[in-house]
Amino acid sequence: MTQNPMHSCPQFAITLKAMGDPLRMQILNVLGESSFGVLELSQIFTMKQSGMSHHLKTLANANLVTTSREGNSIFYRRSLENTFNVIQHIFASIDEALLDDDVIKNLNIIEQEREINSQVFFAKHISDFKQQQDLIAKYSSYQSLCEEMMLSINAQTGQALEIGPGQGEFLIALSKQYKQVLALDISKALLEVAKTSCANKNLTNIEFKLEDIQSIKNPFADLIVMNMVLHHIVRPQAFMLQAANLLNDRGHLMITDLCQHDQQWAKENCGDVWLGFAQPQLESWAQKAGLLLTKTSFVAMRNGFQVQCLLFSKI
Ligand SMILES: C[S@@+](CC[C@H](N)C(=O)[O-])C[C@H]1O[C@@H](n2cnc3c(N)ncnc32)[C@H](O)[C@@H]1O
Repeated sequence: MTQNPMHSCPQFAITLKAMGDPLRMQILNVLGESSFGVLELSQIFTMKQSGMSHHLKTLANANLVTTSREGNSIFYRRSLENTFNVIQHIFASIDEALLDDDVIKNLNIIEQEREINSQVFFAKHISDFKQQQDLIAKYSSYQSLCEEMMLSINAQTGQALEIGPGQGEFLIALSKQYKQVLALDISKALLEVAKTSCANKNLTNIEFKLEDIQSIKNPFADLIVMNMVLHHIVRPQAFMLQAANLLNDRGHLMITDLCQHDQQWAKENCGDVWLGFAQPQLESWAQKAGLLLTKTSFVAMRNGFQVQCLLFSKI
């Protein structure tokens, strides 16, 4: 029998003991989709902060959660890697289990607060949208990354969907390559800017909709693009799943976003909900949505940020 030097029975027992508790199972469920601070988790599970800290310590000692510092707070999320193969299967069963009604209600309250903050940000910063965005990554600095990735796709070029086109720069490239393009944004003001800019360029195959992705039900797209959108989304895993459901068979999802970083100021100044993403995190969410990572490309900004462009195909 082959043995794994990383495995030890005492460590395995610690891991299983940490998991074998109904409350901690629900905490692991919640941390599989998003990251939360101790205070938020105490609110979600209606318990004292000291009690929640104790449970998180137990989970961290068993390598079931990882932490990241964001400003003065520590945020927890479920570990992507664990030396014991069976843990991923247990995570999958935990994800299928129902959360208590109160937990769902409290979770919704926190997520709605985050969503409102993000929407308020875009409404408030319409006039200085470009300056705010340029603080982190100018569109021109990742434009060729996205265009090259799109042109590398060897598949149907019927319908494309861009979610969150902002001022609509990438719509120009999409409009040339795809027969029909749908632009979906939740910001009325930005959608108007994109519409005017495309009309001025006589791009007639683009439809603009002020709608949320949830409003579309049936698959129709050969390509879905999200450029610098996902880090503004409160529940990115659920968002990716919704996007995947709109793809035709063998369709593609292209995500351009920041690599994981620790620049907390981006939350206050740029309306970011997430401080970028680690590639394995995106890959794992995509996999659960039936998508396979097929291509990756990266570009480093002069200010230290890194942008990743990932192409996923529907399996
Ligand atoms: C940082 S901007 C990126 C704009 C553009 N894609 C680019 O690369 O320059 C984020 C865009 O996502 C939009 N957005 C945020 N949340 C969204 C959602 N739930 N559905 C659709 N668009 C959303 C914002 O209104 C904004 O247009």
